[in-house]
Amino acid sequence: MLKVNLMANNIKILAFAGSLRANSYNEALIKEAAGLQKEGVTIEIFSLEGIPIYNQDLEKDEPARVKAFKESIRSADALLIAIPEYNRSLPGVLKNAIDWASRPYGDNSFDDKPVATLGATGGSIGTAVAQYHFREIAAFLNMHPLEKPQMFVTDAHKKIENGKVVDEETKKRIAEIVDALVKWTKRINGK
Ligand SMILES: Cc1cc2nc3c(=O)[nH]c(=O)nc-3n(C[C@H](O)[C@H](O)[C@H](O)COP(=O)(O)O)c2cc1C
Repeated sequence: MLKVNLMANNIKILAFAGSLRANSYNEALIKEAAGLQKEGVTIEIFSLEGIPIYNQDLEKDEPARVKAFKESIRSADALLIAIPEYNRSLPGVLKNAIDWASRPYGDNSFDDKPVATLGATGGSIGTAVAQYHFREIAAFLNMHPLEKPQMFVTDAHKKIENGKVVDEETKKRIAEIVDALVKWTKRINGK
């Protein structure tokens, strides 16, 4: 079934970053995406701040921030996730939010969602391991990851300053990934 936003010929993308850090490199990537002002594309950012540690006992009466997160995911046509790499995997804050939004059993908010990932680190592997790890989770949750372009931002301290992307090549690549996600979303929805 076509989604409401696609019918209106507008693609709504929900973006979130797996970092709560002020001046997060990863949040900077999605802020740059949200500022692109592409015609027919809306990008909203959701902060994972305030999502409590998952506890299955709380599923019966979901915390308000979890409810808001799930609703934002549901009402989006596609997701854009900035994934920091912690110990060659996803940060707990992101995995925790994903766990919440995938539950309770049978109520997986991520079901059938097109998703693109990107990530930034001061290191030299550019969050590739974490983003590939995410793909295993995405497969289980029936998301549809965009394959290309991939975006692994290395040496982020040289490209992002005070929470803002300053490197022109990085800005260009963010715009390309958003364009590709929009095309991918239309393709998945038969548009
Ligand atoms: C607990 C921890 C583990 C980390 N592990 C990795 C890692 O495996 N690979 C990597 O490239 N950077 C690693 N880093 C560095 C992060 O990429 C860096 O802190 C980055 O700024 C986090 O993203 P943010 O700026 O969006 O918060 C790690 C940082 C922390 C705090």
